[in-house]
Amino acid sequence: MGLSSLTRAVAAIAAVALTITTSVNAIPTWPDSSSSTNRNFQCQNLTIPVTISARNAIFDVATPETNIEVTNFILNLAQQGHNYSHTILKEYADVSGDYTLAATYCAPLNGNSKTLQILTHGVGFDRSYWDIPLNDFNYSYVASAVGEHGFSTLSWDRLGIGASTHGEPVNEIQATLEIAALKELTRLARAQQIPGLALPSFEKYVHVGHSFGSIQSFELARESPDLSDGLILTGFGLNGSFLPFFQFGGNWVSATSIPALASQYAAGYFGAGNPSAVQTNFFSPGQFSASALDLAAGALGQPVTVGELLTIASAIGGVSQFSGPVLVITGERDLPFCGGDCLATGDPAVASIPAGVAAFVPSSRSYETFIVPKAGHGLNFEYSAQTTYQHIARFLEANGFA
Ligand SMILES: *[C@@H]1O[C@H](CO)[C@@H](O)[C@H](O)[C@H]1NC(C)=O
Ligand SMILES: *[C@@H]1O[C@H](CO)[C@@H](O)[C@H](O)[C@H]1NC(C)=O
Ligand SMILES: *[C@@H]1O[C@H](CO)[C@@H](O)[C@H](O)[C@H]1NC(C)=O
Ligand SMILES: *[C@@H]1O[C@H](CO)[C@@H](O)[C@H](O)[C@H]1NC(C)=O
Repeated sequence: MGLSSLTRAVAAIAAVALTITTSVNAIPTWPDSSSSTNRNFQCQNLTIPVTISARNAIFDVATPETNIEVTNFILNLAQQGHNYSHTILKEYADVSGDYTLAATYCAPLNGNSKTLQILTHGVGFDRSYWDIPLNDFNYSYVASAVGEHGFSTLSWDRLGIGASTHGEPVNEIQATLEIAALKELTRLARAQQIPGLALPSFEKYVHVGHSFGSIQSFELARESPDLSDGLILTGFGLNGSFLPFFQFGGNWVSATSIPALASQYAAGYFGAGNPSAVQTNFFSPGQFSASALDLAAGALGQPVTVGELLTIASAIGGVSQFSGPVLVITGERDLPFCGGDCLATGDPAVASIPAGVAAFVPSSRSYETFIVPKAGHGLNFEYSAQTTYQHIARFLEANGFA
């Protein structure tokens, strides 16, 4: 490289640096929503540094490296009559660090929203779960919430997953540290302190989760009720009897053996073994298109860590005194929370298995369980997605969030 081209390169780098510095302080310039066809809202991708700490479990277990070791781990985890997390628990310890969270903020083109929805995805996906680019975004929760109903949304890749910092998968990337990340993200949003984003001050902040993301949202509101004004818990319940269905259903293999994930994730991250595993855990017979499954098992598929699998079941600490509105919305054929039939309670007095959540939020001023007819666990991927979205919007509107 000659001197003048080196000078040009330095100047180009300086120009990029200047652009980045400027955009941090200036009024946000919305990037082209080039991926979207005529969407009536705008989105901005963000990289948010956080410093967090949490009391994690320290497990005495070797990181599964081979797929034989992965399956051995799952056979131990799901063994009936045993609590493997307890068997291998050594101690609890404070884990802390500096991490970056990848997030996307979306808002209507004209005017502010009354409510910001903070969206937390579940196991197997990243934040793209909320904005699925299928059938012209007909399966996009964000398109419904922002484009149709005028809310603003902040979706994030859970710590350890997608474009957020990956970490040590056994003793670091666990439920407690991820919940700490969600709390910090929420605190930054409420204080309008997200770097590079001129976030308006919203009247209300609602947490919307799917599956493990619902568990984290529930726990945030239980531990820090001041951080949330309402909960939408999709693909959720509090009967842990059926988690082994999901643990086995995933046909998990090491992410290092999956070509699409191998370059991004270390051993100790597991991905679904094949598309049928994704179908088993997230889809309901007759309720989805082949292209939806292709996306879920392909471009949108993400892994789960050993530490997450060991801490999901114990992430919820008990009854919550959260007083805001709570909607639990779960597919009738949900596998991990209902074993494939949310209505088979064996007790005519109990309408559905997810309805049991009501007893855990006795102070909620407005509680509802809605079972989406025929749907499976991955609500956003199925034909019923619009039924789910319209029900959520109606609940939020009825509770003063619109
Ligand atoms: C945000 O990042 C995602 C993933 O890289 C990309 O597909 C999308 O187009 C980006 N959105 C915006 C508004 O830049
Ligand atoms: C399993 O053990 C862990 C760790 O001791 C504990 O937190 C959890 O509550 C136990 N689960 C059950 C169902 O007893
Ligand atoms: C979008 O979903 C609705 C409801 O499921 C359906 O009636 C409509 O045909 C879908 N539109 C597209 C473009 O797929
Ligand atoms: C979970 O649901 C099943 C089926 O309704 C029921 O038999 C079982 O008692 C429930 N377990 C708990 C802990 O609620």
